[in-house]
Amino acid sequence: MPRIPLIAANWKMNPAPESLEDCIDSYIPNEHADVVVFPCLVDIPLCLELGMVTGAQYGRAENYGAFTGDISLQIMSEIGCTWVLCGHSERRRYHLETDADIIKQAEKALELGMQPIVCIGETQEERQAGAEQVVIRRQMSDLPEGITLAYEPVWAIGTGQTATPAQAQDMHAFIRSLLPADARDGTRILYGGSVNGQNAESLLLQPDIDGALVGGAALKPDEFGKIVQAAVRMTERL
Ligand code: PGA
Repeated sequence: MPRIPLIAANWKMNPAPESLEDCIDSYIPNEHADVVVFPCLVDIPLCLELGMVTGAQYGRAENYGAFTGDISLQIMSEIGCTWVLCGHSERRRYHLETDADIIKQAEKALELGMQPIVCIGETQEERQAGAEQVVIRRQMSDLPEGITLAYEPVWAIGTGQTATPAQAQDMHAFIRSLLPADARDGTRILYGGSVNGQNAESLLLQPDIDGALVGGAALKPDEFGKIVQAAVRMTERL
């Protein structure tokens, strides 16, 4: 059974695109591609109201408690988020999230019936040192089954320096080879890092790339719509 592509919009700490109701088509799933949006907290109710499949950019594993400024997966799930990003490199970098924290979040999300997208990827220094596979192996060890993965090389995020389709495919094939045999075919592995309307198709054409996690281009409805359309063309071809 082929994997349906998933295109995810990570709006990060930015307001939702203006007049969202007028460009909603770009952000709504269709029969050929799943589409999920990850808005900043305050825009979540609007996205849910507009019928978008909506996820949390982060959620803490504890349900409630004295964690000023944090938000829990439990609360995000209560308000209607069905997906969550775990371990985005910006969370690892600015909030010092560890692999152990990320495993805990992914497990909790699954327990709540949410779908975690666990982000993994090496930094520029790690790639230059030839350590990308070591890093990925470490980031993937002990992750629960039933998750979606996003390979996001840190050097490609927000830099305009996309991994080439061949580089990305190499890493995706490696990542898939590390999955337990019974999860290998069914697990979606997204690529993230400067995906846009122009490069999406060549990335999505790779056999082990099952979708995209999109930052900058996801804030531009037309551009994001092009990425979704590229995914739709992929499935139509199957
Ligand atoms: P970018 O961000 O598309 O702006 O590179 C991707 C991400 O951080 O998920």
